[in-house]
Amino acid sequence: MTALASPSAAATTADTLALIAEDLREVDAVIARRLDSGVPLVGEVSRYIIAAGGKRLRPALLLLVCGALQCRDAQRFNLAAVVEFIHTATLLHDDVVDESTLRRGRATANEVFGNPASVLVGDFLYSRAFQMMVDAGEMRIMQTLADATNVIAEGEVLQLMNMHDPDLNQEGYLRVIRSKTAKLFEASARLGAIVARAPAEMEEACATYGQALGTAFQVIDDVLDYDGDTSVMGKNLGDDLREGKTTLPLIIAMQRGTPAQAAAVRSAIESSGEGDLGAIAAIVRNTGALAATREAAAAEAQRAIDAIADLPRNPHTKGLLQLAAQLLTRQA
Ligand code: IPE
Ligand code: IPE
Ligand code: MG
Ligand code: MG
Repeated sequence: MTALASPSAAATTADTLALIAEDLREVDAVIARRLDSGVPLVGEVSRYIIAAGGKRLRPALLLLVCGALQCRDAQRFNLAAVVEFIHTATLLHDDVVDESTLRRGRATANEVFGNPASVLVGDFLYSRAFQMMVDAGEMRIMQTLADATNVIAEGEVLQLMNMHDPDLNQEGYLRVIRSKTAKLFEASARLGAIVARAPAEMEEACATYGQALGTAFQVIDDVLDYDGDTSVMGKNLGDDLREGKTTLPLIIAMQRGTPAQAAAVRSAIESSGEGDLGAIAAIVRNTGALAATREAAAAEAQRAIDAIADLPRNPHTKGLLQLAAQLLTRQA
């Protein structure tokens, strides 16, 4: 745990992102430019969600990897915008599927514009991302992004199949989050290495880092759904339980709880008991499941840190190490 403790102590995520602040401004300029469409509703919906902010973590990951590998290729801005477009498309679709009403501190696009507009503009963003990746003109880049979007879609469908299933185990849960979330982190880090023309083993190290980081990120997200603050997260708490999602805090609570506690969690998953949120959150906390889930995230973050041990020592690599440590204590 020393590797985890040392980078987190000194710096904040803002410090880490300051390293690539100029690059991120370039990416935002590409994003704004590539939202062009002759159809007004496309721009309206996509600007609505993109202007609301978001952490721009996936572009940051790609840019930090480029920085760590000393790559200044302007293609990185284009690809960073591509991964943010794909991310935004998944959010538009995800909020329809999850019937979510709050995202980035404001009403979701589906609340404001309706489900059809959200789904269709999500399709626009996906396909715009594909046009932009074709511009890059490199088969490996296209392959990475095509595989990632395909796996994300599989992850979301797999999760749908697992709804209301209290018997989903840790392995099944991991398979979902590695697909729906970690895959795009993995692709972002890998793309940074591809643009930097890194040797194969370095590219794999970056991809492994991204996969582990993305897994830890989603595990913490699943903690925050029970233990977060809506005003900080900009999302509603309790969405997972309402949807009957068997996330890691619930899996561990069922393992560690008394028979009565386990039965209460099971029945809440089966029925998506809205009124149960307070009671289930208390069980998740009192059984130590939240703490244990945070430990699982810490193990993944450590795996991320270990993966990039051989990257050149420079501020950007340090930023990658810090990012892995800092996400464990994120509130948003
Ligand atoms: C939200 O991702 C979806 C998950 C994978 C949990 P982020 O938390 O990165 O969303 P924004 O872009 O910062 O809003
Ligand atoms: C995020 O999944 C969407 C994708 C990763 C495709 P979730 O449904 O778990 O995340 P939030 O809570 O809506 O951001
Ligand atoms: Mg959701
Ligand atoms: Mg979802």
